[in-house]
Amino acid sequence: MIYADNAATTKMSDAAVRTMTALLGEAWGNASSLYVHGQKAKEVLEKARADVAAVIGAEPREILFTSGGSEADNQAIRSAAELGRQKGKTHIISTAFEHHAVLHTLERLKKEGFEITLLDVHENGLIVPEEVEAAIRDDTCLVTVMFANNEIGTIQPIREIGAVCRAKGVLFHTDAVQAVGHLPIDVKADNIDLLSASAHKFHGPKGVGFLYAKKGVRLTNLIDGGAQERGKRAGTENVPGIAAMAEALKETAGAMAVNAARQSAMRDRLIEGLSRIPHSALNGDPVKRLPGNVNFCFEGIEGESLLLLLDDKGICASSGSACTSGSLDPSHVLLAIGRVHDVAHGSLRLTLGEDITEEQTDYIIKSVREVVEYLRGFSPIWRDLTAGKKEFIL
Ligand SMILES: Cc1ncc(COP(=O)(O)O)c(C=O)c1O
Repeated sequence: MIYADNAATTKMSDAAVRTMTALLGEAWGNASSLYVHGQKAKEVLEKARADVAAVIGAEPREILFTSGGSEADNQAIRSAAELGRQKGKTHIISTAFEHHAVLHTLERLKKEGFEITLLDVHENGLIVPEEVEAAIRDDTCLVTVMFANNEIGTIQPIREIGAVCRAKGVLFHTDAVQAVGHLPIDVKADNIDLLSASAHKFHGPKGVGFLYAKKGVRLTNLIDGGAQERGKRAGTENVPGIAAMAEALKETAGAMAVNAARQSAMRDRLIEGLSRIPHSALNGDPVKRLPGNVNFCFEGIEGESLLLLLDDKGICASSGSACTSGSLDPSHVLLAIGRVHDVAHGSLRLTLGEDITEEQTDYIIKSVREVVEYLRGFSPIWRDLTAGKKEFIL
């Protein structure tokens, strides 16, 4: 099998599995206990905090462990909203192509009286800092823009957006779930106040993540209870999982340059090969995108059938995001960049692993070509397009 769905999740690294399994036996104490088992767990926890912080240029006390990206997004946005409300500022700016962990949190805040501006995403899948600046008002309390999109992989001008927010005195959050470990991040230089990350996107375990909150940004609890995580996130810490996350992050981030060079070469080979399929189009900017992300639309076919047939050929891919597969709605991300419904339905996302080879890449190109041709053979939409009853869009 060729696993090309790394944006959905990644396989845990051997080092992360080793760390986690060893610690299940060795660091089983409650990190809040004073005796030796607790202190061992506490030591592991704080070492993990320092390791995670170092990768993104933060201080250890600015890292709060969570159950993953969704929780970190919720807590970051709710905290900024609460701080805003206290000052009478209830306007939040975000974008139309955020992950649902952000969009659904914003929808809930809207019901609670916040006003939400969702910026348009340009056709190339990018947000423009000047448009963020123009949208900021006196009552804006938060700008939240994702670092890299989970479907089309486009990398946003985060440092510039952060600079705009800082100049205007508005908090800036970025959902960096797809970026952490894969792209260079320095929260200080990038002007980031709040950042969310998730271990299972960089070869760590599922159900573990972290929130970076710049010193001085007061967090609101989502979970009340004990005094863990400086009183901001109650619940006995998952020490083996957290340590495995730190291990995976050190390893993935440590090999970032080598991984990115290999993945982007294979990505560009795939883009080149798939572009030769008639009436197809790459989604998102060809250059400003994650090293392993390829996302295409093929006119006249259904993404779901494409996936099933690719699965038969031993290729694991996705159409839209994993969270929306199974639903018939076209991806909100593809609609946000201006794809019409029919075209958005025929989408394919391939997200390559660090170990992808040239042979595998060529096999994917050959398989996608065959499957697209086969499906078009009995597609009524394709028949109408080729008979001139409908106009080609791509
Ligand atoms: C951009 C983005 N944000 C948030 C999440 C949610 O992360 P988690 O699965 O850890 O809750 C995901 C997961 O797919 C994602 O891709």
